[in-house]
Amino acid sequence: MAPAGAADGPVAIVTGASAGIGLKTALGLARAGMRVVMTGRNPARTEAARRFVAERSGNPQVMAALADFASLAEVRRLADEMLEAHPRIAVLVNNAGLIAPRYEQSADGCELTFAVNHLAPFLLTSLLLDRLKEAAPAPPAPRAQPPRIVTVASEAHRGARIDPARLAGPQDWSAYKAYGRSKLCNILFTRELAARLQGSGVVATCLHPGVVATELANRGGGWIGLGWRLGKPFMLSQEKGAETSIFLALVPDPAPFHGAYVIRKKPAQPAPAARDDHLAGRLWQERARLVGL
Ligand SMILES: NC(=O)c1ccc[n+]([C@@H]2O[C@H](COP(=O)([O-])OP(=O)(O)OC[C@H]3O[C@@H](n4cnc5c(N)ncnc54)[C@H](OP(=O)(O)O)[C@@H]3O)[C@@H](O)[C@H]2O)c1
Repeated sequence: MAPAGAADGPVAIVTGASAGIGLKTALGLARAGMRVVMTGRNPARTEAARRFVAERSGNPQVMAALADFASLAEVRRLADEMLEAHPRIAVLVNNAGLIAPRYEQSADGCELTFAVNHLAPFLLTSLLLDRLKEAAPAPPAPRAQPPRIVTVASEAHRGARIDPARLAGPQDWSAYKAYGRSKLCNILFTRELAARLQGSGVVATCLHPGVVATELANRGGGWIGLGWRLGKPFMLSQEKGAETSIFLALVPDPAPFHGAYVIRKKPAQPAPAARDDHLAGRLWQERARLVGL
């Protein structure tokens, strides 16, 4: 097998890598010698981030790709592009996310925060899954590292409620409730995905990065936006915030983290709703219907 950084080596895809935790995650993976694809929605911001990572890491194998996750058609196009360009995909970091400051709908008519934070990574993961499975080392290959899907969730999932029958609708909408709901969906997705991937050689895990000084809630109106801007000096740096994502993407044996919700590099107990297997199963069916799988 070619080394990770070789021109034909496996790639790591990091979504939402034009800024914040995603950018610093891409930097960590590039520094570790991986070939990295950084996705973003804004061409100038994404290319600037790509150049920053390539220069800082000294790794020339850093690429950029574009897709607005508020459109499932764009997610499908991105997946097609990745499958066409990269015969081996070893790591997918589902990091892109936002807190929509007001109720909006995606191009597909779904609540925007849910669409970007949850439906898009669900669809992207589903479309890349066979390629990730192909990257699993055939036994016996004791030193080869298993491919993995690392999804960024959040402690904001605690207290969130989901009605699977109204998954893509406003439900009882507020910016924070919609955000918490999307992150609860990400943990339940990881749980169900891990069960479905048992024996495939692919590891699925999710994490809370800490409270990190990024742009995440800058545009948020009202108390969330104000609190975020005032609280920034007390938050983790973006480098610290990327540490758990980088750890999970690179740890040689990720098996202990399969299906886990990870905080500070250790499995943690999520809220009871995030451990509800019945809910996880219902959500899987409903979101598969929403994305047309
Ligand atoms: N910061 C925290 O304290 C914290 C805590 C828990 C979880 N998280 C999670 O960590 C992840 C990264 O967030 P961050 O804090 O680093 O925020 P950030 O600085 O705002 O970065 C978010 C990234 O997602 C991208 N993105 C947003 N909307 C998108 C869309 N419609 N299509 C494609 N990409 C889109 C952004 O692109 P643009 O550059 O174009 O905006 C950016 O690259 C998110 O999933 C967030 O929920 C963050």
